[in-house]
Order: sequence, then C-alpha cells, then structure tokens
Amino acid sequence: MAAKIKTIGVLTSGGDAPGMNAAIRSVVRTAIHNGVAVKGIMRGYAGLLEEEIVDMNTTSVSDTISRGGTILFTARCREFTTAEGQEKGAEICRKHGIDGIVIIGGDGSFRGAGKLSALGINTIGVPGTIDLDIACTDYTVGFDTAINTAMQAIDKIRDTSTSHERCSIIEVMGRRAGYIALWCGVSNGAEEILLPEKYDGDEQSIINRIIESRKRGKKHYIIINAEGIGHSGSMARRIEAATGIETRATILGHMQRGGSPTCKDRYYASIMGARAAELLVEGKSNRLVAYKKGEFVDYDIQEALRMTKNIPAEQYRVAKLLVR
Ligand code: ADP
Ligand code: F6P
Repeated sequence: MAAKIKTIGVLTSGGDAPGMNAAIRSVVRTAIHNGVAVKGIMRGYAGLLEEEIVDMNTTSVSDTISRGGTILFTARCREFTTAEGQEKGAEICRKHGIDGIVIIGGDGSFRGAGKLSALGINTIGVPGTIDLDIACTDYTVGFDTAINTAMQAIDKIRDTSTSHERCSIIEVMGRRAGYIALWCGVSNGAEEILLPEKYDGDEQSIINRIIESRKRGKKHYIIINAEGIGHSGSMARRIEAATGIETRATILGHMQRGGSPTCKDRYYASIMGARAAELLVEGKSNRLVAYKKGEFVDYDIQEALRMTKNIPAEQYRVAKLLVR
C-alpha cells in the first residue's frame, strides 16, 4: 500500500487562464479537509527550481475565487525541460516533504508533470488554458471567460466598423488551435471565420465575398482570424488594396487572458481542483483530470498526451453556413 500523503504542492504553469485561482483554492481547501498540508509553489517549475515555496491554508485562498490571473504567478522554464532540471525539481520536493503536486496548466506543463511522476513525485494535472486545445478534455479552465471577453470586444469593433463602413480583421488567441475563433466567429455573427485547422490560404475568395457583400449593401465585414494563421495586418493591407474598402486589423492579444472568471470557469476549476487533490490523497499519480462527455474523469498523462483533437466537423459545417 502507498504511504499516506502528508503534504502536497500546487503550482500554475504556462500561460495563465481565468479560473486558475478557483482551481488553486479548491485544491487547498480539499487537501486541508482531508488532513493534508499544502504548499504553494510560485512561478511554476521555475519557482520549484528556485525553491520559492510557501505554506498555504484556507485563508491564503480567501477572496481569490473571483480574481483573474494566478496568485501563485506562472512562468515558462527551460531548465525544467532537461533531465537535470527535473531531477533537481524532484529532489527539492523531497527536501520540502512534498509528496505530490497538482499542476494547473496545458500540455507542456503536463509533460513536465509526467517527468516528475517518473521520478517518484506524485502528480495530477488540471487543464488550465484559454485555448481549449487539450485533447483528452472537452473543457479547459479559462476558455469561457476568454471567449466572452473576446466576444464583447468584437461587438464593440463591429459598431465602429459599421459606422465607417469598413472591413475589420480581428485576431484572437488560441496558439495553434482555432476554438476561440470558432466560438467568437459564430457568436459575433462574423462574415468569415479563419481557423488554422481549416484555412486553405485562398485570400482571393475572401476578397470576392467582400466585394459581393458590399454590392448586397452590407455595411461591415467582420473577419475573425485565429492567431495560428496570424498576419492580420498584412492581410488587411492586401484586402484594402484589392477591394478599395478601408480595412483595419485588431489583434485582441492578452486582454483575452485577463479578467474575473465566469461562473462556468469558477465551477469547472472548483470541481477539477477538488478531484485532483482527492486523487493525490488516494495515492494516485501521473493522472490528468478531464471533463469528457458530461462527466469529470481522469486519464493517464501519457495516454492523454497521445490523444488528438480537432474542430468538430458538424459545428464547423454550421459555422460556415451561418456566415454571410
Ligand atoms: P502549457 O503548459 O500552457 O502548454 P508550455 O508549453 O509553455 O505551456 O509549458 C509550460 C512549462 O512546462 C515549460 O516552460 C516547461 O517548464 C514545462 N515543460 C514543457 N514541455 C516539457 C517537457 N517536454 N518536459 C518537461 N517539462 C516541460
Ligand atoms: O496558451 C495561452 C496563450 O494565450 C495562447 O493563446 C498564446 O499563443 C500564448 O499563450 C501567448 O503566450 P505569451 O503570454 O507568452 O505571449
């Protein structure tokens, strides 16, 4: 039988996401409820290697559920991608009596979690990224807040775009994935939705559709362009030159990662964080908490990282049908 877990750590890693604080709070409170002490590891794996480790209790997470960002800070850490860095991290955990860690982040962070687990430190991952690009789960903490923030910004751009009878290209985040672009494209009633998974680079067809829609009397033309395609500025210049219609590009950028988390993000973060802490208490390791087909489940980390995910064909079909 595995030795009883006495102390766990919690860290946030990679790009931050609204709802990470709700997940941290849930991990801390669930662990303490189970008689397990919690240490907060600051700045992800970078803080682990620097031994930036603080004791946490239920009051350390008071008044955090509604706050954006992460109270533990986050970072990307090259040293931790090396075998020496991972061994150093495991040694620091042993030195601080940390039996297991909840890692809140994305795929890269979970690769690190898998390495720590192989070195004898129990790890459980919680999906926290605005990109929704983690294959094993239908939901990632932060996505809902990000799409609502982006949607509101796009509505505002649409107002001014209509007043000036312009074409607007609005670039949303998502790294290599097009989920934010798909959801905003549909929900903002865009005229074009460009996803890295689908875009064939046929700009001439877009230009033809802009000219056609102007002939039909449309006063604006909103193109939602995913970060994975990028080049919104040069695309705008080419479209303006080809159509004669004033065209502006807006890159929404990091505003999409900030702000108070929506109810959905707080809720998923709370349930997933609690489940992660409970898995550690049960002596489990190398697992990823996920939401799949309406249920909270968990997967082996390596199995989860081998899974693939794509834009749902049916949703994309409807999105294409609704534009224009
Ligand atoms: P995300 O977790 O959002 O995908 P990154 O890909 O930037 O973000 O990864 C976050 C951190 O996880 C990296 O800075 C690094 O410290 C760690 N990491 C990423 N890939 C690996 C890997 N293959 N092995 C060990 N650690 C990794
Ligand atoms: O993974 C979240 C994310 O915001 C991506 O959408 C984006 O590509 C990336 O992080 C931006 O990272 P940084 O904060 O380093 O600019």
